[in-house]
Amino acid sequence: MNNKKIALVTGGIGGIGTEICKHLAQQGRLVIATHLPVEENIARAWQESQKQTGYDIELAAVDVGSFKSCAAMAQAIAERFGHISILVNCAGITRDIPLRKMEESEWSSVLSTNLDSVFNVTRQVINDMLTDGFGRIVNISSVNAQKGQFGQTNYSAAKAGMHGFTKALAQEVAKKGVTVNTVSPGYIATNLMNAIPEEILDKIISAIPVGRLGRPDEIARAVAFLCDDKSSFITGSDLSVNGGLYMH
Ligand code: CAA
Repeated sequence: MNNKKIALVTGGIGGIGTEICKHLAQQGRLVIATHLPVEENIARAWQESQKQTGYDIELAAVDVGSFKSCAAMAQAIAERFGHISILVNCAGITRDIPLRKMEESEWSSVLSTNLDSVFNVTRQVINDMLTDGFGRIVNISSVNAQKGQFGQTNYSAAKAGMHGFTKALAQEVAKKGVTVNTVSPGYIATNLMNAIPEEILDKIISAIPVGRLGRPDEIARAVAFLCDDKSSFITGSDLSVNGGLYMH
């Protein structure tokens, strides 16, 4: 067992997830990034490239949409490393399409990966955090939960659901040293942007007051701040990092 606090980042090998892992490692955490079981080879290559830049990050295979899979992952982590003290729920997908054309599978896969996952993973770690009297949970939502987005009824609904989850759980665990917050990124330069047609993306960028897409490290900074041991009085909040695209 080690002395570092353990941080679990779901979707940790993705564009935003990678930067979150690095920032938490810089903060002195033992970081574990999750990946889908079918992405084992991609994850190993990712881990190797992090190592080459000085980051030792552990991996855990899990389907965050499955409660059973999350339970097995949590058990394996507990046996190998100990209690998880910091959880960043960052796994997410998009299936953008107007509702009038949306298939049931496009609705349910987004709700499962983006919202059910938050329950599936958090439920595994919450009791250890309460026992330890310390925990940091950060849910990665989206500007599109706050403002809605054409073609994203599924995604906007799932990401908005995170806000309710955050505020309800924050109240349940506040007295036990566990904070629960949401970070709401705007449009960030990751592979997720490749699915947006170029002319639509140009329009989106022109609507961002800062005048550009965000960078993954700009999200990671906000997450690391909320995960700091000293950020103990911030809970149930939603931190927007969106270049001014939506102000509330
Ligand atoms: N508002 C109003 N009308 C819009 C619109 C908008 N934002 N976007 C498109 N339309 C209109 C088009 O002008 C077009 O109108 P006409 O038929 O009159 O020409 C019509 O809607 C297109 O409708 P279609 O049924 O043909 O749409 P489509 O099947 O081509 O799907 C789409 C369109 C895939 C949803 C596409 O608009 C799109 O990709 N939009 C971007 C969605 C987006 O922003 N996703 C964010 C991904 S990143 C992310 O999610 C991370 C994060 O947290 C920010």
